[in-house]
Amino acid sequence: MTPELTLGPLVLPTPLLMAPMAGYSDLPFRLAVRALGGLGLAFTEMLNPHSVLIGGGRKRTALLATSPEDRLLGHQTYGSDPALVVEAARWLEAHGAALIDINLGCPTRKIANRGAGAGFLKKPDQALLMVRAVVQAVRLPVTVKLRLGWDTNLVSTTGLIGELEQTGVKAITLHARTGIQGYTGVADWREIRRAVETARTVPVIGNGDIFTPGQALAMFRETGCRGIMVGRGILKDPWLIRRIWDALQGKPDIEPTREERARFFLDHLDAMARHYGEDTGPLLFRKWIPQYAPSLRLDKATKHRWLQVRDGRELRADIVKCLAIE
Ligand SMILES: Cc1cc2nc3c(=O)[nH]c(=O)nc-3n(C[C@H](O)[C@H](O)[C@H](O)COP(=O)(O)O)c2cc1C
Repeated sequence: MTPELTLGPLVLPTPLLMAPMAGYSDLPFRLAVRALGGLGLAFTEMLNPHSVLIGGGRKRTALLATSPEDRLLGHQTYGSDPALVVEAARWLEAHGAALIDINLGCPTRKIANRGAGAGFLKKPDQALLMVRAVVQAVRLPVTVKLRLGWDTNLVSTTGLIGELEQTGVKAITLHARTGIQGYTGVADWREIRRAVETARTVPVIGNGDIFTPGQALAMFRETGCRGIMVGRGILKDPWLIRRIWDALQGKPDIEPTREERARFFLDHLDAMARHYGEDTGPLLFRKWIPQYAPSLRLDKATKHRWLQVRDGRELRADIVKCLAIE
């Protein structure tokens, strides 16, 4: 039986979530992954409250862009100033958001040193105050995403999970690494299991190191988590969530062909050109080249050449020629 995941009033079609990823989880990528199937919920990247409230211009428009096909979508925000985070959450609610997620997990020094993201795990009481303030300020379901702790003091499973549950959040996503670990080492799924055992009313979503359908099945089995969030794995293989969904339903794992991958790659480039503009889109797209290179079996010279191209149209023409697609 496939696990079911409900976040307050939101019943997810599948228990599989695409992680918020700054610079990657934008509208073109979300729509491309949704079209492949299996996705229960996607997130925006972490939104700076200043940009949400007073930012202007094309960057903010592109960050906040969504569409009727882009459902279900959670908006993630973060910050060290609870009043500002509350205001951003209210603004997002007034502008049609369906769910607010609070980031208590970003380990980037610039953010954590200011006391935001995973920086909050150094002072769990303040994290709780902020989360409670946001929950009380909006009618939308509010969720949190956190790491195990800032350092080896694993605040998540030594109290914080239970206390977060009391704030009224509708789900807790746990990336099973500490803040100082960044992305090194391995995610400690035993801590996800502990969080699952602690949380009585709120679903725990497991996160960390899912790169194959087999690993996702193992995480469900070993931790008892109610949902799984996939991050880096989906950047390398946009089919991953669909493949996990097939595995959960006992269907065979059908890997896409190189032709399908090449077509996806080009469609993604075109979608970015439409979204960000014919000049900027293809240049922004270059960050995807190293992600897709292994599954497209790109040789080093081609990859290097594409990363150097300064003209979007030239890049597209070269891609079409090299991958032999119309
Ligand atoms: C490029 C990149 C950007 C990320 N940006 C965010 C973000 O904006 N908000 C957030 O909560 N986590 C962010 N993360 C962390 C992921 O959401 C996820 O927790 C982490 O990658 C672990 O999952 P994985 O092992 O499946 O990649 C980011 C990760 C990467 C690799």
